[in-house]
Amino acid sequence: MKLFITENYDEMSELGARITASVVTLKPDCVLGLATGSTPDGMYSALARKCDAGELDFSKVVTYNLDEYYPIKPDNDQSYRYFMDKHLFDLINIDKANTHVLNGTVEDPAAECAAYDEAIEAAGGIDLQVLGIGVNGHIGFNEPDSELIAATHLTGLTESTIEANSRFFESANDVPRHALTMGLAPIMKAKKILILISGKNKHEALMGLLSGKITPSNPATMLAMHSDVTVICDKAAYEG
Ligand code: PGA
Repeated sequence: MKLFITENYDEMSELGARITASVVTLKPDCVLGLATGSTPDGMYSALARKCDAGELDFSKVVTYNLDEYYPIKPDNDQSYRYFMDKHLFDLINIDKANTHVLNGTVEDPAAECAAYDEAIEAAGGIDLQVLGIGVNGHIGFNEPDSELIAATHLTGLTESTIEANSRFFESANDVPRHALTMGLAPIMKAKKILILISGKNKHEALMGLLSGKITPSNPATMLAMHSDVTVICDKAAYEG
């Protein structure tokens, strides 16, 4: 596991953008696994600036997002499809047909999830998976539990995640109670993983990740078994 500790959020975002840009430069038709949330937002802005400056070409890049609330319509401004369009896809020269986000409106979530895993495999797997981390150590919406699920699946959100995400909604009551999430298998099968961690409230989750001990009570600790993980955290997250 490679660890970079940056001075602040902006430096974390710049470094994350440089690493992601290097993957896109080396393989213009790469498959990126992407995350939503406040953490990768700065990195997405930095990537959009590079694209704008003509330094980066996303025209052949394919993306698969980690998760989506369920149920939710894609045009709801709290959906992760909406977030990705506004914060990245509308700002770069990507072909929208190549961007994939789990569909939060389907009647059969199990079929949607199985088809998503098959599509990722058919695309040749994920070259670089970008991750954030929850205060409780979740990656995607793989929440701490006594058992973790390998395949992409429908899951319930924990109270801690509902509370953390309520800042984006009018009240905690408005946060959807379920989500579709990539399971740990497609995440762990990614060739490279880049995890961004910012802020004091992520300290405990980060220390668990760096401990090398694997526990379902901090799903991110699974990453200790992956051979190519880069952690970029800011000082606030590292020092706590
Ligand atoms: P955040 O969410 O980036 O908004 O803190 C991260 C996560 O819950 O995975």
